[in-house]
Amino acid sequence: MVKNAMTADFLRSAYGGESMAHMRYLIWGEAAEKDKKPNIGRLFKAIAYAEWAHARNHFQELKEQKGDFTVPAGAVFGHTDTVENLQGAIDGELHEVEQMYPVFMEAAKFQNEKGAERSFYWAVEAEKIHAKMFKDAQDAAKQGKDMELGPVYVCSVCGHTTADNLPDKCPVCGAKQEKYQHFD
Ligand SMILES: [Fe+2]
Ligand SMILES: [Fe+2]
Repeated sequence: MVKNAMTADFLRSAYGGESMAHMRYLIWGEAAEKDKKPNIGRLFKAIAYAEWAHARNHFQELKEQKGDFTVPAGAVFGHTDTVENLQGAIDGELHEVEQMYPVFMEAAKFQNEKGAERSFYWAVEAEKIHAKMFKDAQDAAKQGKDMELGPVYVCSVCGHTTADNLPDKCPVCGAKQEKYQHFD
């Protein structure tokens, strides 16, 4: 339960940003598939799922804050080619990693909002990985190729994302292996 207005504002903003990232990645994923880059399309869809998990977690933290709000949130626009779309994805992820979530986490910590702090922490840990994955995808797309990509695993609890081995348990939130969604 959130007690402080500033943390509630930040949770709503993060919810808005994650919701839009979810939608944007589904749109860009479909575009990458049409561009004959099915692995990049699959990466977008897996990461869209992670952003959904983040939005859900922020929304849950706000469950007692009923009412209508106008929500200002960071949003990336542009829908052109795969390389450019991936640049938008990289820029959005880096904004969250370098600016948004560090500030939101500090505010939540200062206000002793443990649930919000955890929700922000879970998100930022995934966003670091997303930025790197999108960079790898863009390196391939710049050469006119699809990326090399095995199965992608996303923790349904915190959004942790990996294309390495399926973890025994989530390194970010500690959830069991069964909680991972597979995108293969
Ligand atoms: Fe992300
Ligand atoms: Fe997790």
